This record gives sequence, C-alpha cells and structure tokens, in this order.
Amino acid sequence: MSNTILVGSQWGDEGKGKIIDVLTGDMDIVVRSQGGNNAGHTIVDGDKKYVLHLIPSGILRKGKICVIGNGVVIDPVALVVEIKGLQERGIKVGKNLLISDSAHLVMPYHRSLDERREALKGKNKIGTTKRGIGPAYGDKAARTGLRMADLIRPDVFKAKLAQRIKENNAVIKGLGGKPINGAKVLAEYTAAAEVLKPFVTNTVTYLHKAMDAKKEVLFEGAQGTFLDIDHGTYPFVTSSNTTSGGACTGSGIAPNRIDTVIGVVKAYTTRVGEGPLPTEEDAIGDMLHGMGREFGATTGRARRCGWFDAVATRYASMVNGVDQLAITNLDGLDGLPEILICTGYRIDGKGPVLDTPPTDAGELARCRPVYMSMPGWMTPTDTIRKYKDLPPKARHYAETLAKLSGAKLFIVSVGPGRAQTIQL
Ligand code: IMP
Ligand code: MG
Repeated sequence: MSNTILVGSQWGDEGKGKIIDVLTGDMDIVVRSQGGNNAGHTIVDGDKKYVLHLIPSGILRKGKICVIGNGVVIDPVALVVEIKGLQERGIKVGKNLLISDSAHLVMPYHRSLDERREALKGKNKIGTTKRGIGPAYGDKAARTGLRMADLIRPDVFKAKLAQRIKENNAVIKGLGGKPINGAKVLAEYTAAAEVLKPFVTNTVTYLHKAMDAKKEVLFEGAQGTFLDIDHGTYPFVTSSNTTSGGACTGSGIAPNRIDTVIGVVKAYTTRVGEGPLPTEEDAIGDMLHGMGREFGATTGRARRCGWFDAVATRYASMVNGVDQLAITNLDGLDGLPEILICTGYRIDGKGPVLDTPPTDAGELARCRPVYMSMPGWMTPTDTIRKYKDLPPKARHYAETLAKLSGAKLFIVSVGPGRAQTIQL
C-alpha cells in the first residue's frame, strides 16, 4: 500500500482500530496524529482482545514501527500503564514505539478542569470522556502547555510544573474544585518520564527519513469527522482535528506525500456523548445493545444508535477527500427485514430537503431524516469471507452506502476478528 490516511467518517467508533490492524500487514509504520486517551481502539486477535488508547493499533504486528505524533496529547501516566499492560501480555513495546518530543502533556489539572466545566454546564454538557483532552488542547493553543520535551528534562519540568500548578489551582478553586497536589504530580510524572524517555524523539525527521527510504506509512485517525473541532457538531466535539488534514499537521508530513484517504463507516450510525444525531433510533440501540454491541471501549457508556446517515458520510468524504470506503459491522444488521438509509434532512420535518448538514448544532438537532428503504438480507454474514458470497441484498446495501457517500467500496467487515474482513 502507499501512504494512507484512515479517518472515521461518522462520530467515532467506526471500527478504525480493526481496519488499521488489518491494513498494517502491508505497511511499515503506523502513526497516531491527534486525540489522546479519550480514544479506545478495540482489536481482536483470535481469542485475545486488546483495547488501545494512545498506542497505534499497529503495535500488535511484529516488525512494525508505531509513532505517537506531535498532534497527540499524552497522559504520561496512562501511557505507561498501556505500555506495561501490553508488555505483560507478551506484546513487544521497545524500539518499535516512537513518541514525539513536541506532543503536549495531559496533566491532572486538565482532568479536573474537564470534570468541573462539564459539571457547571449541567444539562448542556458535552459528555466528554473526562480525560482532560479539551483543557490540554486549550493550553496548547494558549501557549501554556507542557510537552514531552519538558517532561524528559527534570529541572525544566519541575520549574514549569510549579508555575502551572499555581495558576491552575487558582482556576480550579474558582470553579469549586479540589486543588491539585503539585508534589504528588511531580513524583508521578517524574516516574513516568523515566519509563518514556527512551521512546521520545523528533518523530517529524524520523518519518521524513523513513518516507525517503520508501517506507509506507499509515496514519491512524482517532474519533470521527463529526467530532472534529472545526468540522464537527461544535461544541459537541473533541478538541482536535479528526479529519484528514489533522494527520498532516499532527505528524509534520506534508499533504503532497499522502497517496490515499480511507474513510471508515459503520453500516449504521453511533455516537457517545451529547449532541445532535439526526438518525438516532432507540429501537436500533435496543437491538444492538441486546446483541452485546455498542458499548464504549474507553468509558463503557452505551452508545446512541441510529440508521446510516448518508448526508453526514457524504460531507465527511468531501472534507477528508475520502477515496475508499471501509464499512464495518455489516453483520449488526443481519436480522433486520428492512433497513433505512438517510439521504436528506428537513428542518423540523418541513421545507426543502437539505443534502448537507447545517453548521449550527441547534439547527442540526432540528433536522428530521428523509429515508430510503432497503430490504434486509436476513442471513448471518459473520462467517462469510468473500465478497461474492455475501447475500446479494447485503452487497447491494454496501454498494449503496458507498455510492451515497461518494467513495469506492474497499472493505466490508463482518465481525471484530481479523479474518472477518472482506477486501474488494
Ligand atoms: P473528549 O474528547 O473527551 O473531550 O469528548 C468530547 C466528545 O467526543 C464526547 O462526546 C466524547 O464522547 C467524544 N469522544 C471522544 N473520544 C471519542 C472516541 O474515541 N470515540 C467516540 N467518541 C469520542
Ligand atoms: Mg472507540
């Protein structure tokens, strides 16, 4: 494969981790370029299940290099837990992991601020993962952040931390929260720094040299298009650019070095957290939850579910430049006699049909879907391994999703396992 960006074309949790894991077989390097440990990428390898939060999904494959790029926000303590957890299960994490020295740190005061701001928002809350992601990116933009380069320099870190604790504790107290114990943070972060230091480097030059040597790179998106800070359903979004451009800024790789963009979609729609979701349908949620599916990998929250929203995915294809589409969880719809696809919106169910999502979240919340109906295939698909063996109605459904999304059908996934992946 060539240099490829993989993004979520919906609201996150499209099954990107699994697709990355499959595609990594043909790649040399996997890069995470945005987000933090708000992400949860689930990968099933035989009878083993792994949930990754910060480490790229390529780590499970031998001989692949994983890079945590400059655009990621890193909770060093959580990263150490993740590294040790993988090592304890026999996964090698050593020279195969590189961490950018300019990636920003998530600090305990970020988590505290995240929690406080959500509490103060009351019913208008975003429904964040409370991992401190928003405040960490806020500090980055305000130029008050601490970076990996600071963490691995004990004297620098100590001095900068003292100053940051002072300021943040004033804010936390003002918001009714409990002040952070600076000495405790220093001890915990210093211990994490010891473990992480060997991994920290200038990943930008590393990646450029690797690309010059014809190594092939896969950029692993976290979250999804409609959680993008610029293009999502603001303010019900995460705080990074989850769209394809974020892979470039978050890694220091120029757009003209990218060959392909793959969009990942579920065969239906899900969202965790608050914010508009035009095709939300409780009955679909009840069905999927009843099958034990659609619980968040990071927070365990039940995901909100609905029909496939082609208005959203078409927009996502445009913003990301999606060339190829991977459809996951097709098997989740195996039992349905009829399946709906949203092809347009009408505000309050009246007036003209919109074919792009309104920018204003309030307006999007008022959108009622215009549906087309498709016959279900009513056959289990999870054991099917070849595209031609899928029921014709399932193929027709997948092809319709790709056509409506304006992308070429590339992968259909019929279960969490590696083998349950049909590549066209
Ligand atoms: P934050 O990223 O924790 O600030 O959360 C902001 C919004 O993004 C909330 O609605 C979260 O549920 C959502 N979110 C963050 N990370 C993920 C993810 O990896 N998958 C799905 N939703 C996410
Ligand atoms: Mg997830």
